[in-house]
Amino acid sequence: MLLGSGELGKEVVIAAQRLGCRVIACDRYAQAPAMQVADQAEVFAMTDAAALQDVVRRHKPDVVIPEIEALAVDALQSLEDEGIQVIPTARATAVTMNRDRIRDLASDALGLRTARFAYATNLEELRSAAIPLGWPVVVKPVMSSSGKGQSVVHNADELEQAWQTAVSGARGSSEQVIVEEFLNFELEITLLTIRQANGPTLFCPPIGHEQSGGDYQCSWQPAALSAAQLNQAQTMARTVTDNLGGVGLFGVEFFLCGDDVVFSELSPRPHDTGLVTLTSQNLNEFELHLRAVLGLPIPSIQCQSPSASRVILADAQLPSVRYSGVGEALEEADSQVLLFGKPDARPGRRMGVVLARGQDVAEAQTKADRAAGRIKVMPG
Ligand SMILES: Nc1ncnc2c1ncn2[C@@H]1O[C@H](COP(=O)(O)OP(=O)(O)OP(=O)(O)O)[C@@H](O)[C@H]1O
Ligand SMILES: [Mg+2]
Repeated sequence: MLLGSGELGKEVVIAAQRLGCRVIACDRYAQAPAMQVADQAEVFAMTDAAALQDVVRRHKPDVVIPEIEALAVDALQSLEDEGIQVIPTARATAVTMNRDRIRDLASDALGLRTARFAYATNLEELRSAAIPLGWPVVVKPVMSSSGKGQSVVHNADELEQAWQTAVSGARGSSEQVIVEEFLNFELEITLLTIRQANGPTLFCPPIGHEQSGGDYQCSWQPAALSAAQLNQAQTMARTVTDNLGGVGLFGVEFFLCGDDVVFSELSPRPHDTGLVTLTSQNLNEFELHLRAVLGLPIPSIQCQSPSASRVILADAQLPSVRYSGVGEALEEADSQVLLFGKPDARPGRRMGVVLARGQDVAEAQTKADRAAGRIKVMPG
């Protein structure tokens, strides 16, 4: 049973079915991308503990695979206690749902280098927490994803606005924010990390990415890291994923600042920037996730060609959609277009992605950007 049926979930379903699994896809709306390919679908609020427990108990799945962050994590813990396997573990889904628990674990309990940070529950606390960090700072709701409610603050006068943005962008009712020093990083990467039941922790070659407006815009593999940086990132990823336990693939995010590798956050599931592995690797991140979940062997992970991804975003609110320029985009050699089949659009919503291979990363990026630029999301 898949909890969350977005574009990443859709690929999880495909990978699961190729290995003979029967999949029930769940989400809060009908016709979500993963539901279009799953054996069965359930539509309900997955943050509602009673609803979640009811659906799981009714279907009695062998495995529950969370695909999104916002879930009734206490219900997942009860289900795990009843003997249902939750990927990677119920505790991991709870620890990573909100920024404070994963940050406290990584920084305080495990001693990983992170941006300096503090928490605040009102504007006054935010003022006293921000000043020692030095300007600029980044303010984020403790409960949010995809950059919602985040802002970069350049001076004390901007804090009130940032507080309002954080409170209104938060998921749920929590009025806690995290304030972090702004890191002037050279590169940010995702290190896909796979924990196995019967084997060592494995790593994919690092993926570089760019974020804007809270969402990933493009990614590429391999990212250029020194051997020392890669070693540091792998050690940190192993430390945090060993603590979270269980089996499956994790997307561990790092900032590279000079020689320093700084831990940012992680997803205990396939990562959006890892969509590039659908074209770059011998086994993509979804196949790796499924193999780890099912306890199947992973003999080798290779990046077979430098590759890049570029997202296709909607720029308007549209009750139904069609696409123009798909043919023109597909004229690009060594490229693939993935349209996720989302029923409607809103400004900034990710509707698809272009994946491209090249002789080197720069060529792959040029192809992916050119092809993605040709596709427009239109009123349906
Ligand atoms: N302390 C920081 N200094 C500089 N940039 C930052 C900092 N924190 C976050 N960012 C930028 O904002 C992006 C989003 O931040 P973060 O990953 O914490 O939030 P998110 O909402 O969980 O995003 P997503 O769900 O898309 O991963 C980062 O990938 C990075 O580009
Ligand atoms: Mg992130």
